[in-house]
Amino acid sequence: MKTVFKKINFTILTEETKSNVVSFVLSHPELIEDFYFTPDKKIINPYYNDINGIKVKSTGLRTFPVKKYLSELIATDVQRLKELISIPFTTYIAYTNPNTKLGVHKDTQTDKRQCSIIVPLYPIEDNYKPTLIYPNWPNDKTAIKMAVNDCPALWNIQEYHDVENNDNIRFNFQIYFGLPYTFEVVCEMIDNGTFFKIK
Ligand SMILES: [Fe+2]
Repeated sequence: MKTVFKKINFTILTEETKSNVVSFVLSHPELIEDFYFTPDKKIINPYYNDINGIKVKSTGLRTFPVKKYLSELIATDVQRLKELISIPFTTYIAYTNPNTKLGVHKDTQTDKRQCSIIVPLYPIEDNYKPTLIYPNWPNDKTAIKMAVNDCPALWNIQEYHDVENNDNIRFNFQIYFGLPYTFEVVCEMIDNGTFFKIK
């Protein structure tokens, strides 16, 4: 079986930060931003785009502007990660609406989003629906589940994947890597020690 995710055994966010981030996101639903499909299937974010006059359809995937609102809460963790990790990364909170199936897809920004470390935040434990990865889509529709117990994990977002959410809102924190840092490259760097600045 092809490897599509790799368990990470160092701390991304401390338990204290996770709990602070969850409290903040849950108490500020008005700050969550929807992503939309334009008629030609491009994904846009209304926060950064003028959608006047364009008919759009929500994907069910939403985001929380980390840089704008969570910088202070995660600053210590990001600083620690910058001192630990030898390659550039970006932070992100992916938020899925209740009762939403995103649809099987690969992430579109292939230059910026090759692989990502996912840290489930909400809901906790079994209520958090696993990410489904389809390594041989569409010929073989067998999914590999990346459940909360597999996380934090580095996963290949250039493999087909989906989320079939339950009636909870669902969100996770991610640090992601762009080209030339593909999933295979980052796995190799973790294994041979070059992913870390400190040996
Ligand atoms: Fe995705």
